[in-house]
Amino acid sequence: MNLSNVNLAKGRSMLDVRGLQKVYEGSGRRVEAVRDLTFTVEAGELVCLVGPSGCGKTTLLKCVGGLLTPTAGEVFLGGERVTGPPPGMAVVFQEYGRSLFPWMRVRENVELPLKQKKLPSARRRELVADALESVGLTDAAGAYPWQLSGGMQQRVAIARALAYEPDVLLMDEPFAAVDAQTRAELEDLVRGLWRQRGITILFVTHDIDEAVYLGERVLILSSSPTVVQEQLKVDLPAERDQLHTRVAPRFAELRTHVYEQIQAAKRGTPVDRVVKDQRLP
Ligand SMILES: Nc1ncnc2c1ncn2[C@@H]1O[C@H](COP(=O)(O)OP(=O)(O)OP(=O)(O)O)[C@@H](O)[C@H]1O
Ligand SMILES: [Mg+2]
Repeated sequence: MNLSNVNLAKGRSMLDVRGLQKVYEGSGRRVEAVRDLTFTVEAGELVCLVGPSGCGKTTLLKCVGGLLTPTAGEVFLGGERVTGPPPGMAVVFQEYGRSLFPWMRVRENVELPLKQKKLPSARRRELVADALESVGLTDAAGAYPWQLSGGMQQRVAIARALAYEPDVLLMDEPFAAVDAQTRAELEDLVRGLWRQRGITILFVTHDIDEAVYLGERVLILSSSPTVVQEQLKVDLPAERDQLHTRVAPRFAELRTHVYEQIQAAKRGTPVDRVVKDQRLP
């Protein structure tokens, strides 16, 4: 499937998740991780998914990425049903430690998917160098992942996803292991890339401020078994920066609302409340 053409048509639904359910079964244990999730992500949109720990965020991303088969429901990408990992999609996993190959140098790890894409070597070198530069790891190109800190390893995983030039990028709590300063820089990097390249991003986090800062829309998930509790449009200006956006009164209103919704989700009672100036569905 070539997603590039679909991606150009901004405003079309790129990702369509319908009635998704995932039940893990085995060893006499049955866990209904996701009960009934329905949402769409438009082409070129940056959507953040936020929900309490263990509510099924990683499970959902694995189903979207074609790495897990849903128990019920369907995922469509660019109008085609997802049955395996779709080309044109990159995933940054939560468990970065397991996502890099320890026997390959940083540069080779980043280059690997480009080889699978059959890009010529000069182009591969260029993309690898650009991606490593954008995450501040140019100097680590020749190191092995195990020689790097956790945060650096995660930045390698991010560089690998960026170098691939995906149409759709799935990110699973990608900044959980990096320090606050780097995290802020990486958040801006993701938003910058999103604005420059018009890619579609589904970004999972349990950090409410991060979800509001990054997203054009925030989907709030309930506790397990999971449903979409609410969808919130983030009506902050597109131009955001760490200093001003986070102290804006509107930012505070939105984050408070998301916080209340998550607390309510934990209790199992959705709050029926309207954020000032925005009727919520
Ligand atoms: N392979 C598996 N087999 C059985 N149960 C699983 C498996 N993977 C996840 N689960 C269960 O499914 C539920 C959701 O897990 P998942 O990892 O998707 O949540 P999460 O929202 O990503 O959590 P976190 O915020 O901690 O990353 C949990 O109860 C978990 O124990
Ligand atoms: Mg997870």
